[in-house]
Formats: sequence, C-alpha cells, structure tokens
Amino acid sequence: MSTQVEYDKMNWLYNYLYKDMSTDEIKNLDFIKEHRELLTNYSKKESVLIDVACGNRVQATALAIQGYNTIATDISMEMIKLANEFSKKHNVKLDTYRKAWIELPNMYSNEFDIVFCTGNSLVHSPDFKSRNENLKALSSILNIDGTLVVETRNWEKIIKDNKKFTAYSKISYEGIDYVPLYHWNLNGMENESNVEIIFQEINKNGDVTLYESSLSFTPFSHDSLVDMMIDLGLEITKDTYDCNEDWYYIYGKKLNYKLECDNTNSK
Ligand SMILES: C[S@@+](CC[C@H](N)C(=O)[O-])C[C@H]1O[C@@H](n2cnc3c(N)ncnc32)[C@H](O)[C@@H]1O
Repeated sequence: MSTQVEYDKMNWLYNYLYKDMSTDEIKNLDFIKEHRELLTNYSKKESVLIDVACGNRVQATALAIQGYNTIATDISMEMIKLANEFSKKHNVKLDTYRKAWIELPNMYSNEFDIVFCTGNSLVHSPDFKSRNENLKALSSILNIDGTLVVETRNWEKIIKDNKKFTAYSKISYEGIDYVPLYHWNLNGMENESNVEIIFQEINKNGDVTLYESSLSFTPFSHDSLVDMMIDLGLEITKDTYDCNEDWYYIYGKKLNYKLECDNTNSK
C-alpha cells in the first residue's frame, strides 16, 4: 500500500489526536518552543515557510498564528482536508496543496526560508535512493540562507532496543477515552518495515473497541542522514542527535558560497 493511501486511511486517528486542541494550546506548542531560536533568525514579514509533511496541519497552523507566511503540503488528500478544517477552526488562512516532496520543485524554486519536514516523515521514503531524491527536492526549494529542518525518530535506538510495542498515554475526545498502541515489525536498517497502530476505544460501559491501521517505513541511520544533507550542499547548523533519546532533528542551511564553489567546480 502506498504512503498516500496509508495516510488517507489514518485521517480519523489524526482527528482524534488533535481536534480538541485550543488555539492557546497551539500557540504554545512544543514545536514552536523547540524551533524559536531558528524562527527568530527570519523576519515574519518577509519570510515564507513551508511544512511539507503537514499532516492535519497543527504545526503549520502554529507557525501561521505566530505571524509567519506559511504554506502547507502533504501527499495525502485526506490529511489536506483535515488541515483545512483545522486552520479554519483556528481562524488562520493557509494555502494547502496535495503534493509529494518530489513534485515540489515543479511548483517552487529557491523560495522558502524554512522547509519543515518534521514528525518522522522522511522515513516514509521507501529506500536510500528515494530518500536522497526527496531531500534533494526539499533542498532545491530553499532560499539561499534558508534552513531545511528534518525531524525523525532515532532508528538506531529503536532497532537496538528491538521494541515490539509502544504504549501511549490515554487521550480523551468528546468524552470517550482512547489508548493508542504501536506494534513494531522491524526489519533492520535500510529495509522496509512496518508498524501496526492499534487504537483502543474505551467505551463508557468499559467495553473496548479496536481500530487498526498500519504504516510502512524504511529506517535510516543518523550518519547516513547527515552525510546526505552535507552531500546536497547543506551546512549542518544544529543536530540534536543523542543515542539515548527517541527523537532528533537536524538543521541544514543552504549557503551561498557552497553554491558558488559547486558552480566553479562544475565549470
Ligand atoms: C508521521 S506524519 C507527520 C505529520 C505532521 N508533520 C506531524 O508531526 O503530526 C507523516 C506525514 O508525511 C506525509 N508524507 C509521507 N510521505 C510523503 C511524501 N513523499 N510527500 C509528501 N508528504 C508525505 C504523510 O502523508 C503524513 O501526513
């Protein structure tokens, strides 16, 4: 099943996870706190940001609420529909497009000051080659001095721990409790793997209804991601990787002098 179809089928889960958030909660999203220093490097009036894996658009809405010109794209039409409802609810006007990463250079070139590919999205590239092509596409839509932000789970740790299950805290939506559970079917680094997502709905009378879906992904190492970003001409300006932490993100900045060097070398 393609990533697009998998995420189209996951729309209900994203709805449950985020629909109840208030505008104040979105203003104070951890995502904004985490990237505040980066954001302050770019002027709100002149910069244009893009969230290229917007999901139901929580992060893009948060950026727009902060006053940034933000565009949101995603490969899944169902996610884009949710995203539109979400930003409307929070009175934010955002342009959204159903686009795969590889299609973005047909729409844009050198236009964005920050390209966000966050929330463990890049891992849906099915292999090394497509990951490289996707990152190349994302890098090509960056302005000079723009920053590509890639956030991912720490696959070294996940594979080393060989965890079978991840249990998440209970969440409540419209008076009903839900307990999400992930069942990992790992297959080593650079091999296609999948996770079954089981959403347990605890009904008021105590009965449990199960909703199931699954996502495929291809894990990659921290070193291979860093090397790929450097090979694409990005300078790593921040890297939060820690072998004991579950997640990390990397900033890759597109520098003018690197492009000049590349052009000189190719003459
Ligand atoms: C794990 S979700 C993250 C969503 C959101 N960023 C968040 O943190 O909640 C991954 C998102 O990436 C999108 N995606 C996966 N592969 C893609 C591709 N090749 N092009 C564009 N979007 C893609 C999926 O449709 C999904 O919405």
